[in-house]
Amino acid sequence: MRAPVIAIDGPAASGKSSTAAAVARALGFVHIDSGSLYRALTWVSVTRRVDDPTEILAGAGALHVGLRLEGTLLQVEIDGVDDVDLAIRTTAVTANVSAIAAMPPLRDWVNARIREVIERLPGAVIDGRDIGTVVVPDAELKVFLTATPAARAERRLAQRGGRVDPAQLAAETATLAERDRQDAGRATAPLQQPADAVVLDTTTLGFADQVARIVAFAAERGLQPPSGADIL
Ligand code: CDP
Repeated sequence: MRAPVIAIDGPAASGKSSTAAAVARALGFVHIDSGSLYRALTWVSVTRRVDDPTEILAGAGALHVGLRLEGTLLQVEIDGVDDVDLAIRTTAVTANVSAIAAMPPLRDWVNARIREVIERLPGAVIDGRDIGTVVVPDAELKVFLTATPAARAERRLAQRGGRVDPAQLAAETATLAERDRQDAGRATAPLQQPADAVVLDTTTLGFADQVARIVAFAAERGLQPPSGADIL
């Protein structure tokens, strides 16, 4: 029997990862950021200059791309890369990730990594685009996080630090909208709101509130780690 799963899906920069991390900590579950796996495959594609899925997967195998438990996060790792988080969030990776994520063999690879790891967890909070629709369609709780494109662009720029001017904000809003268009328009596992998801619009909701609401939804469904559960 698999452990309980909370699926958090939504468009780019809607706050899925930070929210999922906080919900996982509150419940004693483990956070899996599925986007980080697509980003790691994109990093392999960009640095090895290959765009054929078979070659990308061969590169991922050679570099042991995978997930390692760090606290309550399953962190993606790549052999020889010290700061993977930084490496997978460059402009070059972000610009190419939607195209990489549209390739069915790469989606199968990411989904296999996620499904094999959740067998061994006390409970998982997984964020992405297709978690509630494709990866774990019977998840105990599905949340769809959204916010206006301008609010999402503002947060993404704030995350990077520095001053934000209106031209930058307009450019980031356009970049996010283009990624959403690609993610929602692809044939395989498009970004889609699951029919049975709780929708949270975070445009005007504070971070602590959105985490508290999801933890409350989880409590309503009786979600807690099974007693005696191991973390991996
Ligand atoms: O954090 P951010 O919203 O920028 O994106 P992410 O969660 O890191 O995901 C990066 C990209 O991976 C997305 O734009 C999608 O193209 C792809 N992705 C996906 O197709 N399916 C998922 N379950 C997660 C991410």
